[in-house]
Amino acid sequence: MGRADTHLHTHYSGYSQLGKSMKFPESVISPETQVDKMRSLGYDVMAITDHDETAGAFRGAKYAKKFDDIELIVGEEVSTADGEIIGLFLNERVPKGLSVEETVDIIRSQDGMVIAPHPFSFHVPGLQEKILEIDIDGFETINGGHPDKYSNMFAKKVMDAYPGRWADLAGSDAHSVYTSGTCWTEFEGVTAEDFRKSIEKRTTRAVGKAAPPFGQVQWSAEVVMGGQKLLFKKLKGDLDQEEGDQLAEKILSINSLKAASGLIAGSMYLFPPITCLASTLSLIYLGIGSRKMISKMGDRLAGIDKILRKRDGGEVKNAVLQGGDLHSEKVPRPVDGRSDGIGQPPIRRL
Ligand SMILES: [Fe+2]
Repeated sequence: MGRADTHLHTHYSGYSQLGKSMKFPESVISPETQVDKMRSLGYDVMAITDHDETAGAFRGAKYAKKFDDIELIVGEEVSTADGEIIGLFLNERVPKGLSVEETVDIIRSQDGMVIAPHPFSFHVPGLQEKILEIDIDGFETINGGHPDKYSNMFAKKVMDAYPGRWADLAGSDAHSVYTSGTCWTEFEGVTAEDFRKSIEKRTTRAVGKAAPPFGQVQWSAEVVMGGQKLLFKKLKGDLDQEEGDQLAEKILSINSLKAASGLIAGSMYLFPPITCLASTLSLIYLGIGSRKMISKMGDRLAGIDKILRKRDGGEVKNAVLQGGDLHSEKVPRPVDGRSDGIGQPPIRRL
C-alpha cells in the first residue's frame, strides 16, 4: 500500500485576507522543504497544491526528481466562484475566479483529476452540495485543517452512504511543517500512476485525523517568525528575494519604518498569552459552529440523497444509508492497522 498527501502548500500560495486591511501569508515554506518533510515521513506520493498557482509545484517536482523514494504530482487549489477545488496531474496553471464547471472543464482538458477539498467545511470555502452536480473524482473525508467535530465527519458520512461513487481521500492541507503527517490516503501500489489508477477504481482510503487546533497556532507562529526573519534581514539590508516568495517581495517594497513596526507587531503576536488566546478563541468558534451544523445533519443528508436521486433518475446509485442511520453522529472511521499507527506514518531515514 502506498501513502499519498494530495494537499500541500508552500510560499507560492500567496496571502489570505484578514478583515479589510490585514493580509496574512498562507505559508513561508519552500517547495523543497515540503518535499523533504514528506520524504522524512515516508510518503510515496505528494502533490503541491498552492492557491491559484502551479509554479511552486513545478519547482517541487523538479527537486523531487532527484529522489527515487517519492513522486510529486503538480496540483493547484483553485479558487472558483463556487468554492475551492483541486486539480491534480496538471500541465499548467488553471485560472481562478471562474465557475466550478468551467474550472473542472479546464482541469479535464489537461487530463487532470478533480478533487473537492474540505467539501462540507463551515469555516473555509468548500463546494458544499455543489460536489453532487459536478464531475469530480473524489473528495476529502479527512482534511488536516479541520479539527472541528463536523466537517470531516459529515464528509465521511456522505462518502460511506454511496460506496464506489467517489474516491475517498485525505489531504493534510499543510501550510507549515507542523501540520503535515497526521492524515494520508492509502492506495494500491506506490507510484503516482498507481495512485491515479486507485482513484479511478475508487479503491483509495483516507486514514488518520486532522491536525490539532494547536497545530494551526504553530503554523501562524511559523508564518510570523518567517516574516520576522525577513523583516530583520531587510533592516540589515541583506534581504534577497527568493523566486516565488511573495512575502519577501512585499517586505522589499516597504520602507524601514514599516519594517520596524512589523517587527514589533510580530513580536507581540508571539507573546505566549496572545497565541494561547488565539488558540482558545479558535476552539470556541469551531465548537459553536460544529454544534450548529450537527443539529442540522439529518436534514442535510436527506437533502443530499434527494439531489442524487434526481440526478440519477430515481434510484440512487451506490446508496447504502437509508433513514435511521442518517442521524447518527458516529461514523466508523478506518483506523491504521499498524502497530505504530497512532496517526503518524513510520519515519523513513533520508
Ligand atoms: Fe488548502
